[in-house]
Amino acid sequence: MDLNVKKICCIGAGYVGGPTMAVIAKNCPHLEVNVVDKNQSRIDAWNESDLDKLPIYEPGLKDIIKRYRGINLHFSSDIKTNIANADLIFISVNTPTKTKGFGAGQASDLKWIDSSAREISKYAKGQTIVVEKSTLPVRTAQTIKEILEGAASNTKSNSEKPKFSVLSNPEFLAEGTAIDDLENPDRVLIGGDNQESISILVDIYKNWISEEKIITTNLWSAELSKLIANAFLAQRISSINSISALCEYTGANISEVSLAIGSDKRIGEKFLNAGPGFGGSCFKKDISNLIYIANHYGLTEVSEYWQKVIDINEWQTKRISKLIVEKLFNTISSKKICILGFAFKANTNDTRESPAIKICKELLEESCKISIYDPKVNCKQIENDLLVKQSNELSENETGEWIFANSIIEASVNSDAIIVATEWEEFKFINWRKIYKEMRKPAWVFDTRSIINIQEVKDSGINYWRIGEGITQ
Ligand code: NAD
Ligand code: UGA
Repeated sequence: MDLNVKKICCIGAGYVGGPTMAVIAKNCPHLEVNVVDKNQSRIDAWNESDLDKLPIYEPGLKDIIKRYRGINLHFSSDIKTNIANADLIFISVNTPTKTKGFGAGQASDLKWIDSSAREISKYAKGQTIVVEKSTLPVRTAQTIKEILEGAASNTKSNSEKPKFSVLSNPEFLAEGTAIDDLENPDRVLIGGDNQESISILVDIYKNWISEEKIITTNLWSAELSKLIANAFLAQRISSINSISALCEYTGANISEVSLAIGSDKRIGEKFLNAGPGFGGSCFKKDISNLIYIANHYGLTEVSEYWQKVIDINEWQTKRISKLIVEKLFNTISSKKICILGFAFKANTNDTRESPAIKICKELLEESCKISIYDPKVNCKQIENDLLVKQSNELSENETGEWIFANSIIEASVNSDAIIVATEWEEFKFINWRKIYKEMRKPAWVFDTRSIINIQEVKDSGINYWRIGEGITQ
């Protein structure tokens, strides 16, 4: 493949496509980067002149968009032209779990991958490198190759047929730290069977990443490694969460246990924070996919092993909701509960699979009143997630209702309990004495992230429960 890459196209302007291409554009001024999406309103949001209205909130993203958008970074819904002009195309579309049909609840829904491959084969010209950026089941590259070649031969004469090579280049960024993860990754992984195409992609990354951090493998290792990286990370969280419950019964303290075990270099200190269960669009989806693949190959013991990681995660969230009800005298009917944080983690406006959604739904079932405050998640998003419209004001009726609040203090007025569900920085510095005055007594705070200033809470007179702390009262 004799190719001098000048133009890049990325299909999918989501949480991965947008930030990833922004960082490539920043570090490769010689390349033109075009991000396309079939969702016109998402493209319009990326082109917003008010940078606070970008579709994604990520620290550092606004600055890059401000400097490079319209220079060598473009967002467009013209998929045809941008595919036709591209030398290299990233596929960054969504790959959620199937909700119906064969493999529902476990297998990845590959319809958006299939349609992207067909669009590429229809519009691409000449030699094109196609790069899987989405997280995919192992061996999807084979499917993409077959679609690219098959569909092209349907529509084009031999002389017009484009030539494709397919690479796997999974993305390891985490939301909330996406820009830093992209600028300073632990590694970049590139799988493929065409050495020249691999070298071309390696050269793009070498513009800002040192070569020793770039790992090249065969296609299947790259595809599988992405699923396994997420499975291992999620497994750590389920492991520490399972121990958090044990701490609560025995008087041990999960933060101390995390520190003690994490100081062993072989275990490592990261990803040992107990919490309300992992959320986000990927961990559950990717482990479910791993389980599906293991079952497909008849590896029942393997699938059962990984299923437990999901089971513990669901159990952890549920046990917290249950425990809140129990502490509030086994009834929360008509009581007001304040939820601080709705995003699945701090520094993002993403709520996909957020544990806060499950906790709110379970509490609403108990007919309580909920006020929700999150620094970055808007009211409309919460309505979509809870599948219940917000009330204009909380009534006296014995029905579950919720209301959106614009500040911590507004959310906490007249509440019986406060639940810290996301580890936003501002929740670490709450003036609990002030909050206590606004609450109904006896007042409770439930810290599911172990972040609040416990001394201040104790001094304020509020009862508290903290994840993994053996102080059950
Ligand atoms: P997303 O839903 O935010 O974005 C995907 C975008 O693709 C959507 O805007 C959708 O409209 C667009 N799209 C789908 N089909 C299209 C088509 N045929 N033509 C044009 N546009 C199309 O998803 P995301 O969070 O960016 O995730 C994308 C992939 O990256 C997934 O496979 C995910 O597992 C993986 N991933 C996500 C993260 C993360 O932090 N979100 C991190 C690493 C990997
Ligand atoms: C995760 C991985 O960290 C990324 O490497 C990967 O690229 C991405 O999934 C993906 O494939 O989508 P993300 O889900 O954005 O990134 O965020 P994480 O920081 O991994 O957090 C996931 C969830 O685990 C959050 O709900 C977080 O609060 C929780 N978590 C994390 C804990 O409960 N404890 C911890 O110690 C760490």
